[in-house]
Amino acid sequence: PESGPLAGRRVLVTSGPTHEPIDPVRYLANRSSGRQGHAIAAAAAAAGATVTLVSGPVAIPDPPGVRVVAVETAREMLEAVEAALPADLAIFAAAVGDWRPAETRESKIKKDGAAPAPLTLVENPDILATIAGRSAGRPRLVIGFAAETDTVLDNARAKIARKGCDLIVANDVSPAGGVMGGSANTVHLVGRDGSVETWPTLDKDEVGRRLIRHFADLLGS
Ligand code: C5P
Repeated sequence: PESGPLAGRRVLVTSGPTHEPIDPVRYLANRSSGRQGHAIAAAAAAAGATVTLVSGPVAIPDPPGVRVVAVETAREMLEAVEAALPADLAIFAAAVGDWRPAETRESKIKKDGAAPAPLTLVENPDILATIAGRSAGRPRLVIGFAAETDTVLDNARAKIARKGCDLIVANDVSPAGGVMGGSANTVHLVGRDGSVETWPTLDKDEVGRRLIRHFADLLGS
């Protein structure tokens, strides 16, 4: 739509896991389904924004009205994010792999009876910190996510300073909560001043719509 609280705005969203290849048939990944990030992208488009969704490999449909750029690795995700800028609002909801194998073998590693070769890992670029730390071309509002299993709020407060973002959406992804892959989410909005706003448990689509309304208010008109 040409109207709505984000009409005329450019929005960038990352979503899903990353796949970090070990060899042509194996990879390192995580349990992110992409449902929350995709719901946010759909809500931004419904609010009138021009939306680019940079997504790792997911099993859910593309949200309507959104330009989707499909990537596999964290490094590809960073490249796609750079190419999608500038944006007014950037929301980093992807569960980016922190590490990748130091080398990707060109042929399938064989099980040859000897002890398995150790997997050496190296750190991936931090996409959120890279974009939030920019002086030129930084989106006006940069939102990070924090998926934690322990001391969710303390971790989020530390993260917001370390990453340089404006707000963190924190959630508890302990297995008992069923958030990863599930349809509901309980989020806490953590501000730069350490303030916390906890929302009730809601459907991820509803969380997406409320987050977009909140970010539109923060951006103003
Ligand atoms: O450090 P941690 O992974 O917990 O931070 C989570 C936030 O940082 C999320 O917004 C996630 O999308 C972003 N992130 C990123 N690039 C990474 C790691 C995390 O953009 N390599």
